[in-house]
Amino acid sequence: MSEKLRGNILVTGANRGIGLELVRQLAQSIGENAHIYACCREIEGPRAQALKNLSTPGKITLVKLDLSDEGSISSAVQAVSRNMEAGGLNLLINNAAINRPESPAPLSATGKQHMMDVYETNVVGPFLLVKMLLPLLQKAAEMDSEGDQMSCSRSAIVNISTLISSIEKCPESFHIAQMYPYRTSKAALNMLTRCHAEEFKRHNILVTAVHPGWVRTEMGGEKAPLTPEDSVAGMLSVMLSLSNKHSGMLLDWQGNTIPW
Ligand SMILES: NC(=O)c1ccc[n+]([C@@H]2O[C@H](COP(=O)([O-])OP(=O)(O)OC[C@H]3O[C@@H](n4cnc5c(N)ncnc54)[C@H](OP(=O)(O)O)[C@@H]3O)[C@@H](O)[C@H]2O)c1
Repeated sequence: MSEKLRGNILVTGANRGIGLELVRQLAQSIGENAHIYACCREIEGPRAQALKNLSTPGKITLVKLDLSDEGSISSAVQAVSRNMEAGGLNLLINNAAINRPESPAPLSATGKQHMMDVYETNVVGPFLLVKMLLPLLQKAAEMDSEGDQMSCSRSAIVNISTLISSIEKCPESFHIAQMYPYRTSKAALNMLTRCHAEEFKRHNILVTAVHPGWVRTEMGGEKAPLTPEDSVAGMLSVMLSLSNKHSGMLLDWQGNTIPW
């Protein structure tokens, strides 16, 4: 990346997979006045070790955040607000998510609790997080004197969605990955993206959903063709290119539009 994202950036699900790689590449590329808030469920112990091993002194603050727990979301937002002092939040990347039951997750193996758990983490969590972080996102947008220009450096929410959230494209992938809870939760996250884009455009806050590709992580599995490095490099480059016309859209990691 030759250009750089700036300001305060918050990433959820930062301890492994795509979230960890987002933090690693951001920490390498951001300037001195930028800072990353890397959120994960456990900030002590082995699950946070890979994040702690990133050698980036002063650039990353670890924040404890469980998206299925409203109290945890509230505590995380308070901690971030205190840490930012006078500044605002420039970029929120809603990356954390779960997929239950294990893929391919056919109807016969899927129950009420799977539907509830996945919706809670993938939709309700980001909904509450955005609601509580809105004053900080507004502050960042107001501190910038760029008129009505939106960007990920000014004030933005990027929701990590998926190709298989697309209702139009469902027939192409349904038989290999049924995943009722996951698909429906990400379709709901897309609607949240669209609603937030409508509501927040008066504040000049950009809101876009991005599909990372099929990526080799715990969720993506070993057969996935893309490495986290390539997926994240692509998504960061897309984030740098986002402007008003992309708010309320679903794009892939290469910047192509995905139909709803
Ligand atoms: N991999 C793919 O092929 C692919 C394709 C399309 C979209 N995506 C999307 O890309 C994003 C990242 O996926 P990934 O492949 O990196 O998944 P992953 O390897 O399974 O990592 C998921 C991350 O989310 C965190 N998380 C889970 N539940 C949480 C909760 N209640 N509160 C806070 N954090 C929680 C996990 O933390 P713990 O370690 O504590 O569990 C972990 O950091 C997700 O939104 C996913 O839907 C992935």
